[in-house]
Amino acid sequence: MLDLLVRNATLPDGRRHVGLAVSGGRFVEVREGLDEKAAPAREVLDAAGQLVSPPFVDAHFHMDATLSYGLPRVNASGTLLEGIALWGELKPLLTEEAIAERALAYCDWAVAKGLLAIRSHVDVCDPRLLAVEALLHVKQKVAPYLDLQLVAFPQDGFYRDPHAKKNLLRALDLGVDVVGGIPHGERTMADGAASMKELCEIAAERGLLVDIHCDETDDPLSRHVEALTYETQRLGLQGRVVGSHLTSMHSMDNYYASKLIGLMAEAQLHATPNPLINITLQGRHDSYPKRRGMTRVPELLAAGINVGFGHDCVMDPWYSLGSGDMLEVAAMGLHVAQMTSQTQMRQCFDAVTVNSARILGLADYGLEVGKAADFVLLQAGDAIEAIRLRATRLLVVRRGQVLACSAPAKAVMSLPGRPIAVDWRAPPR
Ligand code: FE2
Repeated sequence: MLDLLVRNATLPDGRRHVGLAVSGGRFVEVREGLDEKAAPAREVLDAAGQLVSPPFVDAHFHMDATLSYGLPRVNASGTLLEGIALWGELKPLLTEEAIAERALAYCDWAVAKGLLAIRSHVDVCDPRLLAVEALLHVKQKVAPYLDLQLVAFPQDGFYRDPHAKKNLLRALDLGVDVVGGIPHGERTMADGAASMKELCEIAAERGLLVDIHCDETDDPLSRHVEALTYETQRLGLQGRVVGSHLTSMHSMDNYYASKLIGLMAEAQLHATPNPLINITLQGRHDSYPKRRGMTRVPELLAAGINVGFGHDCVMDPWYSLGSGDMLEVAAMGLHVAQMTSQTQMRQCFDAVTVNSARILGLADYGLEVGKAADFVLLQAGDAIEAIRLRATRLLVVRRGQVLACSAPAKAVMSLPGRPIAVDWRAPPR
């Protein structure tokens, strides 16, 4: 007897009437037409044709800053640079307890939205490493229900901050998972390139992944991603390195961009744009027309590069909004990149699920036999409708156990002769 059978599910790849059988916290059978007659289970969940997706994954976040909006003041200009200055003001005021408390509160929001894996950068430029200690504690605490991966991020520059190198190595020694960097924040282009060399060497020596805040500027000549692809190739790190943001690519000369994208594909670099943040922070020095600033997502995908979208910020010095809803991220990415074909809209859903799972290296992820029984039941008929509606997460399940549930969204109507409720789903065709 199985523990759980989910029947009549629609999957993100378009398969319909799928049954997913769960035993011992894992999928043991997944196929079209599988029902309780063929697979008797202690508990049967009728998905009623709605979407069952693997959990959402956020490939790029800052959990040390989240929910700190307004502390010690709000970002008046809304720019990246004022956000960094504001974070500098807040850092000396932080306590380990307050960081952990806010991070745990955010993890609750995330789980309720079906977001069960997050890669978070953690600033290592505070010599006390308070945020590192706090988030390592949080990582352990949430491990039963959320995979939290940490990146040692030298926010003030690996070379520009005199203590960053020592602190980054300390953070890695303490158990931070991934090597971060910020080459465009160094004093010179040469220092930026040198930081790519040294940070990739550290990762290669320690057998770690790399995730670089790379070229988060509107300057078309910010080309550190070129150095990143070179070091990736030189050190044999193919498939283990991420270029995050990559916003300068938006403004690059098309000829150079076409060469660069080839180099990135060759190095099997992953790319993590952050649509909500890129569209609000980039183009701030422009008058009109204002650049969108997000990197070239359709072109990267066409070259075979894995693209995962990140949320980056929620209620912090850089972004005053957000709720841990990766469908909001997917919707913004879709709009900014003008990815409006059916295939492209599905690609945007993949960018907040399977593609980001690849970036984090989540080996146990996916709606497949043998994988962990982690999934989200959405109030939507398919992946595109899920994005359109920012669909309600009816059930969030991990290892076959329900972590969160939400009531279906609907409005009760009082129009004579019309339906008594609407829920915005497309009528059946
Ligand atoms: Fe970031």
